Amino acid sequence: MHPLIAPSILSADFARLADEADAVTGPQGEGADWLHVDVMDAHFVPNLTIGLPVVESLLRATAVPLDCHLMIEDPDRWAPGYAEAGAYNVTVHVEAAEDPVMLAKNLRAAGAMAGLSLKPGTPLEDHLDVLRHYDTLLVMSVEPGFGGQSFLPHVLDKVRTARRLVDTGHLRLLVEIDGGVNADTIEAAAEAGVDCFVAGSAVYSAEDPGRAVRELRAQVLRAAPHRWVT
Ligand code: DX5
Ligand code: ZN
Repeated sequence: MHPLIAPSILSADFARLADEADAVTGPQGEGADWLHVDVMDAHFVPNLTIGLPVVESLLRATAVPLDCHLMIEDPDRWAPGYAEAGAYNVTVHVEAAEDPVMLAKNLRAAGAMAGLSLKPGTPLEDHLDVLRHYDTLLVMSVEPGFGGQSFLPHVLDKVRTARRLVDTGHLRLLVEIDGGVNADTIEAAAEAGVDCFVAGSAVYSAEDPGRAVRELRAQVLRAAPHRWVT
């Protein structure tokens, strides 16, 4: 197991997405492991970004696996299309999904990993049965909708609980964190048990996004060395 770093293109230049993907691409262990794509519909969250056509173009423009985070209403209807298009992981919000178990099955049948996201105020305990059907758990560490917000440390309790459930074999999934992850907060997240770290502004507002990815990964490796034995 090695830590996964997933730069969020929400903070990238949307007119140059292929170049922005290239800026974080590198050999394994150096470049981005996944590219995090925030899809927002101006209904589930008060912001509007991109949708399936742009994701399809991005899939053709980069070899980095796409981690699509759907902050949309009615994911039961729309999310499988992202899986069919070739996204590596498709994450939906538990607060929006009508039938999250069926949705996970549909995402997997379409060839993607299935991800479930929880807003900062949504308890983990209420969704443990559903999570047995998912491959990733995306713990939101800001209110979804915008990049550049401050990390909410209380969500690390959820990360610790999820880590324990995975380590004891009660759940089988990757724990991912999203929002306000930067050089000041990533070590606490690593210590709490995160597997995959999404970082938007910390990567794309940096002068050298590729270097920012390498530095974040190095911090994770230093903060929780016992977790990353090869
Ligand atoms: C927020 C998005 C995040 C966002 C993170 O709703 O889900 O992925 O891009 O941006 P930073 O890292 O700047 O908080
Ligand atoms: Zn996101």
